[in-house]
Amino acid sequence: MAASSSPLAVAVVVVAAVVALCVGGGEAQLCEDYYDCTCPDAYDIVRRVLIEAQKSDTRIFASLIRLHFHDCFVQGCDASLLLDTVPGMQSEKESPPNNNSARGFDVVDAVKAALEDACPGVVSCADLLALAAEISVELSGGPGWGVLLGRLDGMTSNFDGSLDLPAPTDNLTVLQGKFLKLNLNDVDLVALSGGHTFGRVQCQFVTDRLYNFSGMNQPDPTMDATYRAFLSQRF
Ligand SMILES: *[C@@H]1O[C@H](CO)[C@@H](O)[C@H](O)[C@H]1NC(C)=O
Ligand SMILES: *[C@@H]1O[C@H](CO)[C@@H](O)[C@H](O)[C@H]1NC(C)=O
Ligand SMILES: *[C@@H]1O[C@H](CO)[C@@H](O)[C@H](O)[C@H]1NC(C)=O
Repeated sequence: MAASSSPLAVAVVVVAAVVALCVGGGEAQLCEDYYDCTCPDAYDIVRRVLIEAQKSDTRIFASLIRLHFHDCFVQGCDASLLLDTVPGMQSEKESPPNNNSARGFDVVDAVKAALEDACPGVVSCADLLALAAEISVELSGGPGWGVLLGRLDGMTSNFDGSLDLPAPTDNLTVLQGKFLKLNLNDVDLVALSGGHTFGRVQCQFVTDRLYNFSGMNQPDPTMDATYRAFLSQRF
């Protein structure tokens, strides 16, 4: 037994060091190695479930980005979007920006089950969504980044807050205002608007502007003609 006490001691020291790094100074800080000791395979587990899910659901990677985006936009990245409606609290899931369009909850459940299997009660749902978003981008050929971890899950869902999510009908000024409220700039606006659907969109959000702007049976006159012609071939 003496032989095994040494690695254990090392492990304890490492846990202490990681805890000190993550919550040093009494103020919780997100960090990349948050689960290195408590659930070292977390990243690989999420990745494995997503690769499997994508085989039967080709849209899932974009859907997961959108879930993370729609979660973070409303009272921070706290997985509040995942909470179901209970008496006295209506879920963000059911608000117009999410109802019938937020998707991938079954895959989130599968990831959570796999994580719980490996490390019960360790990885937060908020971190799960953050990891799933990064892995989705990377598996789609986009850039990778070190995901900061250590978010806590919220206990409340904010239906009213989610009514303020960016809408496809918002004009630029309104969109900029919504992003600015969260300290996000025009670069963030463009990146998230395009990124959260991987550049694809349903025709219903585009055709009015191309063919029937403001109900006038004309294209939006302010639109660049060449760009409009290009889009008209696709919609
Ligand atoms: C969400 O969509 C479902 C199914 O279309 C509908 O029955 C329900 O009323 C919607 N919820 C809200 C809050 O609009
Ligand atoms: C944008 O939309 C808001 C709200 O509908 C409206 O008050 C504002 O005048 C619009 N701005 C422009 C530039 O169209
Ligand atoms: C154009 O939009 C107006 C107002 O929404 C609508 O009444 C009309 O039917 C639309 N025209 C076509 C061709 O869809």
